[in-house]
Amino acid sequence: MVGESTIKWNPFAPDYFNDPYPIYTLSRQSNPIQKDQFGNIILFKYRDVAPILDSPDFEVSSLSTFFESKESYIFKNSSACPFLAKTTSKWLMYLNSDIHRKLRIALGKVLFSYDFDRLIQEAAQETIIHFQFHKELDLVDFSKYYIYHILKKFIGLKDFASLEKVVEYSNMAARSQDIFVSKQMYLKINDCLLWGQGLFAEDGFKAKLVKELEGFEFEEEDYYSILAVTLMAFFETSKDNLSYSLFNILSIPRLRDFVLKAEVKEIKIITEELMRFNSPLQFTVRINKKEVTLMGQVYPIGTRFVLGIASANRDEDIFEDADEIVSNRQINPHLAFGSGIHTCLGALIARKELEFGLKPMIEFLQKFEIDNSHSLLWGNQIFMRTLDKAMVKIH
Ligand code: HEM
Repeated sequence: MVGESTIKWNPFAPDYFNDPYPIYTLSRQSNPIQKDQFGNIILFKYRDVAPILDSPDFEVSSLSTFFESKESYIFKNSSACPFLAKTTSKWLMYLNSDIHRKLRIALGKVLFSYDFDRLIQEAAQETIIHFQFHKELDLVDFSKYYIYHILKKFIGLKDFASLEKVVEYSNMAARSQDIFVSKQMYLKINDCLLWGQGLFAEDGFKAKLVKELEGFEFEEEDYYSILAVTLMAFFETSKDNLSYSLFNILSIPRLRDFVLKAEVKEIKIITEELMRFNSPLQFTVRINKKEVTLMGQVYPIGTRFVLGIASANRDEDIFEDADEIVSNRQINPHLAFGSGIHTCLGALIARKELEFGLKPMIEFLQKFEIDNSHSLLWGNQIFMRTLDKAMVKIH
């Protein structure tokens, strides 16, 4: 029952960001359904998380409405122009029903009008060439460079949109979704969303979007909202996933050898396993439209459920050796891309980033080893797990 165990998920505990998995494991074992101080219900087990993602009885909560309700507090005594609610108003993962369905179809058509195989293969080669003479490098910078070069080719960025600007923007946009964000941080995010309007070019992706959304009567700010979420969803999760994947493969010789020898089919299998193991989006939220009962406890309509995707992906009841990267795992029903009507729209692209990138990258990176004189640095984010630094040096 909720609240009876002393095991409690606490993202403010020392070391949480370095490794949140031990508390996920303890929670699954001893207290899989928890209530936080705001009344949110946090779920850790696959058997609880997966059905909610697929259920029509749950919906997503509106981030934009949340910001509308908070803006008078956030911008009190500030001369900043409130832009949080506007920018998040068309973020697909926070929309329900008809508008979600229509916008998902339109954005999907635009996304998949690009020749991603070519864009991704070119970006992999460019990345390797860019780093070819480095004697040491940060796997996070390496991953950012790669994803930025894929993104740049399709989303249409202005000159102003340097790698550094995109990194900052994407991270700030991602943080807007975290829970327990301070007022100061919201002001910083707001500022970033304002200058971020200058990142996107008018032609290419945006022009295709405008055409696809004819009849929607969208305004400039609506298109900007869609561009913002596409950039963030594309960049943030992909570079997190790649940087940690490369770190893992270079740290574990059996994985490095597996990738070096792997055929296409095997690369696809390890790609899925790395997604499961890394789960860049660790949590998501759903609200119930009907009363629900979990383990004998009844939850009224409108309860906020925080779904532990990353914890579910390490559930031993579903995945044997769940805390290991099993390179040839055959059955892998992971939830790293979510499930149900909000399943990641970019899952195919994200998979291809690893499928085309992993082998050439590990062939290039095999002359490097993990530099143990620098420790791994993790970002202090709860919903998205972000590696900030992972140094390697030449043997
Ligand atoms: C490893 C990389 C990625 C991971 C782990 C990931 C994960 C996820 C997850 C878990 C969701 C569902 C959230 C929920 O149900 O609440 C989601 C949604 C979404 N993702 Fe991704 N994602 C990745 C890459 C991408 C890429 C490359 C794009 C390209 C634009 C993208 C675009 C989206 C969009 C638009 C949604 C919202 C879909 C909807 O609500 O209908 N993602 N992603």
